[in-house]
Amino acid sequence: MSGRTLLVTGAGGGVGGALVARALDAGWRVIAGRRDPEEAPGPRTDPDDRVSRLRIDLADPQGVGAAVDACPVEEVTALVLCASPPPPVRSFTRTTAADLRDQLAVAAVGNHALLAAVWRRWFRPAGGGHVLAVLSSALGPPVSATTAAHMASYVTAKGALAALMAAAVAELGRAGLRASVIAPGHVETGMLAAFDPLILERARAATPDGRFLEPGAVAAAILAALDDPPPPGRLHQIPLPERAETR
Ligand SMILES: NC(=O)c1ccc[n+]([C@@H]2O[C@H](COP(=O)([O-])OP(=O)(O)OC[C@H]3O[C@@H](n4cnc5c(N)ncnc54)[C@H](OP(=O)(O)O)[C@@H]3O)[C@@H](O)[C@H]2O)c1
Repeated sequence: MSGRTLLVTGAGGGVGGALVARALDAGWRVIAGRRDPEEAPGPRTDPDDRVSRLRIDLADPQGVGAAVDACPVEEVTALVLCASPPPPVRSFTRTTAADLRDQLAVAAVGNHALLAAVWRRWFRPAGGGHVLAVLSSALGPPVSATTAAHMASYVTAKGALAALMAAAVAELGRAGLRASVIAPGHVETGMLAAFDPLILERARAATPDGRFLEPGAVAAAILAALDDPPPPGRLHQIPLPERAETR
């Protein structure tokens, strides 16, 4: 493989799948990171064979490093950290140690293992690369009861991922690391199954056009950032569209 190559985690999810499709349309080669690339079908087949699959389970940091080291692709230009387990929806006082551990294991430990492996294997030898992370508007500012309540472990994990991105670009920016984050509110994907439908209905009704963002809108914003990366060493906040119309 040569040319622009994107590695995306959670490639079978709503946002990840939309990003894979759009990146292929825009001429990227894609490595689709899936927990189980054999059983799950790819996000779509590509007649030019520009999609390869990589088993990435972020709950298994050692396996992540081994998968990157064994990957036959010679060059990766960008990494999109799109994967996340769904939020355990529980009140703050009922949030368990296991909730926090499971969320942090993926968002902080797994993503650190992946970015470190990608840096060593592909970015550093190439003089740099671009990492993009999907956070959540639940982190604020402003902190909102609509998006952040009953999600202490998820919000904490996204905060850890934001800090991980800041630490990575602070340290590796001089060696060429570019970093971007995007923080959507609700997006119409399978992840919403974690929530009470009535609460979702109320939240939808409170949006300007009565709809949440479509995953394609988030993917389009990520793709625009991929095409116009920030300078090394700066953490770029990717803007989101005001309205939900892009599918
Ligand atoms: N949907 C929203 O309202 C919303 C709002 C703000 C931010 N986000 C963020 O947007 C990103 C994409 O989420 P989505 O909405 O597209 O949800 P989704 O459809 O549920 O996709 C999430 C993906 O993460 C993968 N994943 C879960 N645990 C993993 C692990 N241990 N290792 C590797 N992959 C794992 C899942 O893989 P499998 O296919 O193997 O299950 C799935 O493909 C996430 O970071 C999410 O936190 C979503």
